[in-house]
Amino acid sequence: MDFELQPLRLADAATGKAPALVVLVADGFVPGDDALSALIARALGSGDFKTEAGAQLFVYGAADIAPPRVVLAGIGDGSAARVRKAVAAAMGAVRGSPAKALTLCFAQPTDAAALRAAVLTVADASYVYRATKSKPKDKKEPPRVARVLIGAPDAGALREPMQQAVGVARGVELAREWANRPANHATPAMLADAARQLAKLPRIACDVLGPKEVGRLGMGAFQAVAQGSRQELRFIVLRYDGAPKSEAPVVLVGKGITFDTGGISIKPAPEMDEMKFDMSGAASVLGVFRALAELKPALNVVGLIPACENMPDGAAIKPGDVVTSMNGQTIEILNTDAEGRLVLCDALTYAERYQPRAVIDIATLTGACVIALGGVRSGLFASDDALAQALQAAGEQALDPCWRMPLDEEYSEALKSNFADVANVGGRPAGAVTAAKFLQRFTEKFNWAHLDIAGTAWKGGTAKGATGRPVGLLVHYLLGQAGQPAPARAGTARRAAGAAAKPRAGAGRRQG
Ligand code: BES
Ligand code: MN
Ligand code: ZN
Repeated sequence: MDFELQPLRLADAATGKAPALVVLVADGFVPGDDALSALIARALGSGDFKTEAGAQLFVYGAADIAPPRVVLAGIGDGSAARVRKAVAAAMGAVRGSPAKALTLCFAQPTDAAALRAAVLTVADASYVYRATKSKPKDKKEPPRVARVLIGAPDAGALREPMQQAVGVARGVELAREWANRPANHATPAMLADAARQLAKLPRIACDVLGPKEVGRLGMGAFQAVAQGSRQELRFIVLRYDGAPKSEAPVVLVGKGITFDTGGISIKPAPEMDEMKFDMSGAASVLGVFRALAELKPALNVVGLIPACENMPDGAAIKPGDVVTSMNGQTIEILNTDAEGRLVLCDALTYAERYQPRAVIDIATLTGACVIALGGVRSGLFASDDALAQALQAAGEQALDPCWRMPLDEEYSEALKSNFADVANVGGRPAGAVTAAKFLQRFTEKFNWAHLDIAGTAWKGGTAKGATGRPVGLLVHYLLGQAGQPAPARAGTARRAAGAAAKPRAGAGRRQG
């Protein structure tokens, strides 16, 4: 989809030649003396249209207005959240029309957050999944909005947020596309190919490890999950080099279970198809790299994706099996359905080699997180307060919110094992927290945060499909980190609480 931003007044919008025009009208609208202003004033006066968010009016063939289709959409106080609601509703009307191009115009001066919300909502509403649908031979493809002109009276000041939003939109689209593809069209090898494609973009590099290399690294937990599948595992390493090599990177780790049957601890049949979305964390990492290539922030980022299937099989892991993780901890696998933490723990250990400034893992990790927070906020767990605050703030800004959850030591009790250093499950209580506590055991050497996106990565029911979350949150966080000095690393930070951040020990000696 092509986006363009132009300074546009209502008089210009009324004479422009877009096949469809959406006008966003906030409270306190003062009409000018153009035809569009007159239409809005009349509709407000008659009570057929209101400026409250969600109210809208579709007009076809209005006199003296060039675009044949006009949607008036109320945005209330003009906040980003209201704009999102209004644009989503308006796009419903536009999508049903044959229009392939659209002008979306703010009637009054607006701000960066509202503009970003408008762009992202248009992009969201115009995404169509096609990868595994046959092309209709006789019928023409249904029309789809491909060009969008955003008009705002104060466009000059909005160039940067516009670029940012377009970058995020491209990332979100890629994440949705890969998460939506069924497991037989998104195998670990195919995900690796998608990552290699990204490496054609500027500043991005990609390495893919297969079963042999992963075995040599000693990733026993990751291998254990993969051993029940005919699909070979892949360990995908992406790099975005936006800053000098000496600068410690942020590492993103995405859970890449391309299908989660539960393994021998098999899941019930209803809705099991949705476990194709169990690589949404991985898809969000791909999406973030797509956005980075576009936005080019001055920052180094590494993406790690352990990708495999979790299948029941003669070779599969069994409840009670004990495996050895890459950092030497032994794990008793009491439930083969708690596989996400097994693939992630080895990826977290792998992340140590970058001496990262922060490591954030993104995972559809627990059903318990869906129960706790539903589809509104992702679960956020963090060992470092500053990192937690930065991620929370980024989530609010991006309208992709998360909520911090606890990591008290007492929650670790549940993971005690009589036969290994740790068990891979606690009981049902606080399931999202005990999963995070398991991961935390592998994060002692860096600042770490974990996003449990089990509730937010996709929607079920008739709207079934991936959301592309939390690409928006992550990109906002990363843009905020660009050009910032690296914070003190875990351990140093806590021991030297109150002291000024010192330069990172070992800076410049990092392996690439
Ligand atoms: N991928 C699932 C988590 C999940 C379940 C996400 C439902 C979204 C919807 C994960 O691998 C899993 O199966 N977790 C188990 C953990 C349990 C065995 C401790 C769960 O949540 O039931
Ligand atoms: Mn599982
Ligand atoms: Zn899973």
